[in-house]
Amino acid sequence: MNGELRVLFPQIKTENTFVFETRLFTSKDRLILAPMQDLTDYRFRNAYDRLFPNSIDRAVTPFISITHGNLSFGKRKYRDVIKENNSSKMEIIPQVMGNDIEGMVRIAEVLLSMGYSEMNWNLGCPFERTLKKDRGAGLLKDTSRIERIIEDVVSRTTINLSLKLRLGVEDKADIYRLIPIINALPIKNIIIHPRLAIDKYDAKVDLDCFEDILSKVNKRVVYNGDIFSKEDFNKLKLRFPTINDWMIGRGILFNPLLPFEIKSIEYFNKSKSVLALHSELLKTCSSVNKMKEYWSYFSQGLNIEEDKLSIIYSCETLEELDEKVRDIIKEMIKE
Ligand SMILES: Cc1cc2nc3c(=O)[nH]c(=O)nc-3n(C[C@H](O)[C@H](O)[C@H](O)COP(=O)(O)O)c2cc1C
Repeated sequence: MNGELRVLFPQIKTENTFVFETRLFTSKDRLILAPMQDLTDYRFRNAYDRLFPNSIDRAVTPFISITHGNLSFGKRKYRDVIKENNSSKMEIIPQVMGNDIEGMVRIAEVLLSMGYSEMNWNLGCPFERTLKKDRGAGLLKDTSRIERIIEDVVSRTTINLSLKLRLGVEDKADIYRLIPIINALPIKNIIIHPRLAIDKYDAKVDLDCFEDILSKVNKRVVYNGDIFSKEDFNKLKLRFPTINDWMIGRGILFNPLLPFEIKSIEYFNKSKSVLALHSELLKTCSSVNKMKEYWSYFSQGLNIEEDKLSIIYSCETLEELDEKVRDIIKEMIKE
């Protein structure tokens, strides 16, 4: 891929129109829906896939929380992963978050019995509560504990384990301590969101560090972070031509048609498509607040002004919200 690009475009400048217009997505590339708690659950994945089949290849589920002494997972999380509920053609990878070995082994066994072969371990959640409990990114400070947990899970079960990582809690030294462990153990792949936990979503993604890690790990690497447009994707593809797995979260919620744009596939009118997704989501959604949360994302991609968004936020029922959304979109289509 690297050679191919150089041959075709010997003097590429990433700021020119090339990055806006050219399709750099290849047949080897895969788009992966990022886990987003309460948002990218099975209802969203099914609705999205029904409307836009084959545009996203895989999805990692929002995390299943593993707590000490509790070897089962909640009904809501169970519903999210049971095969009957996952009608989409996307390959689904369940994600777990926790630090309890017995719980992880037990959940891995349940997932295997459901027909899953891969389990993703969340080592990236940056929130205070999570960090304090040494879960999510909080574990990155204690890489020997990560090593022990991985060794146990992979030796006691047949699950393929993958990791979703940030660079560290406060310091990139965390990920550098983890690299030899990743290289030595049978890990399926690592998803890297190149920010520290303390950055939350504010600092810029650290692409220099990502590049350095890429040169040092011997496992398949998935890139994740701040892909909001085709231009963002193309810049990353030019810089990291060996990466074929691209995880996108907020970008798909801001603009559900982003996969089509990245793949240079013609698509139907954007506001009509988002309205169609809204209708599909409504079929299974019982919470007006959840629909408001989706619209907090969709509205940005459609450039819906604040005053119109506040009309959506003020709705008290799903019926009312549906009516207001339709009015707003109808007006946009007329304009
Ligand atoms: C509302 C929200 C919920 C999230 N839930 C999860 C989660 O359950 N598991 C996880 O690994 N990451 C979670 N993330 C992080 C995303 O998967 C992703 O790593 C992050 O948003 C960066 O990717 P993006 O820039 O494409 O959005 C969440 C992010 C947001 C904004």
